[in-house]
Amino acid sequence: MKKEENKLEKITALAKRRGFVFPGSEIYGGFAGTYDWGPLGTELRRNVVNEWTRAMENHDNMAFLDSSIFTAAKVWEASGHVSDFSDPMVTCNNCHTKFRADHLLDTIGVAADEKMTEPQINILFDEHRAKLHCSVCRKKDFSKVFAKNLMATSTLGKFSEEDQEVYLRAETAQGIFINYKNVLNSGFYSIPFGIAQVGKAFRNEISPRQFLFRKREFEQMEMQYFVSPKEAFVAYEEWKNERMAYYDRLGIKKEKLRWKQHENLVFYAKDAWDIQYEYSFGWNELEGVHYRGDYDLNQHQKFSGVDMTYYDEKTKERYIPHVIETSTGVDRTILMILSDAYKEDEMNGEKRVFLRFKTNIAPIKAAVFPLLKNKSELVKKARDIYKMVKKDIPQIMWDDNGNIGKRYRRQDEIGTPHCITIDFDTIQDDSVTLRARDTGKQKRIKIKEIISHISA
Ligand code: GAP
Repeated sequence: MKKEENKLEKITALAKRRGFVFPGSEIYGGFAGTYDWGPLGTELRRNVVNEWTRAMENHDNMAFLDSSIFTAAKVWEASGHVSDFSDPMVTCNNCHTKFRADHLLDTIGVAADEKMTEPQINILFDEHRAKLHCSVCRKKDFSKVFAKNLMATSTLGKFSEEDQEVYLRAETAQGIFINYKNVLNSGFYSIPFGIAQVGKAFRNEISPRQFLFRKREFEQMEMQYFVSPKEAFVAYEEWKNERMAYYDRLGIKKEKLRWKQHENLVFYAKDAWDIQYEYSFGWNELEGVHYRGDYDLNQHQKFSGVDMTYYDEKTKERYIPHVIETSTGVDRTILMILSDAYKEDEMNGEKRVFLRFKTNIAPIKAAVFPLLKNKSELVKKARDIYKMVKKDIPQIMWDDNGNIGKRYRRQDEIGTPHCITIDFDTIQDDSVTLRARDTGKQKRIKIKEIISHISA
């Protein structure tokens, strides 16, 4: 466990050192729960979003949406987030510091299911309260467990005295529900069909932690599949199978993924399973695949007065469609990819760190080097090759800094699958050295073979 905890620190340090992820507002001392994507993180994020989008595009009946972050407050009242979306908290009765009850229980090895109701977590907390102490004043005296709402708020308006409080969306899913009728009425879709969306979500997480795992501003990739009540369970099983199989495209080891059914269903769910990944700090949720029934559309029908029913031409029935949801986070996916890819070994008698990304995920597919940067004929040839490859494969990098050994180490650290070196032989016979990241093996190939080699 110690070694694995250390791994998270190593990944966090590498991510900053090489420009994947920077702590938010760092030059002002940081801003908890926020991170900024650096140059390589931006490429990695793009690859992750593209893979997810492609998986959704494989379905003929998939619509895409980009809904707004500012939404009417009623949306969140209808969805149940205003009344029910909360974390369990306790206050130290001595020094008044506030803690998440489940995190305190975690310190003595008691796992509280995230989806537990307030009475359930109160019972669990009372069973163990004698063993729990405040990390600030060391006293063992806590309040009862109470709920702290997670919705992030802001204000909008013309004049500050008239500003109204607004919610920042806590999930992208509600943007999909409130547009379900609009998408249907556009005339291109009929039940069953899905609406997929990638976008930012915001939560007032009291203790953001574990790097990208729990952030206050994060990105979701969500899909709601609208289906007839009779076909919902079959569709649910199909989506579960598809979503687990999908992680192979990201190169994730099968044994690091598992299913976990929710013991305590959240207020909207009829059945709920999570795909968990074994992060360095233990098994944790990566994606939820939930059968939400007609809860959300029913609620929006009730609160908005808009008819959410659907007339099914095939069955001649009118019903409110049921919803299967697949919901995963870009940030947790990237933390998983970094954790899975991170490797340390020894090469040519030297310790090295490398990221074993699958090619489709690697932010840089190949780096192009002139053997010597002060030989103009080598640099010119290398530049020509770089430009030629970039036309087909934009995610490539020019690197002429330091000696070849240093360039290899640097590219290994950012997970570049191939390095291409241009030397004096290249000028004679149009061949280059292609070096593979995982094995360090080198071979000569012709310039015209580069594209097929590095896109494999
Ligand atoms: N629409 C359903 C929904 O939002 P959720 O389990 O609260 O369900 C779905 O969130 C996914 O969003 C999670 O599986 C996770 O990947 C990501 N996620 C949730 N909270 C997050 C946070 N604070 N930081 C990073 N990712 C988060």
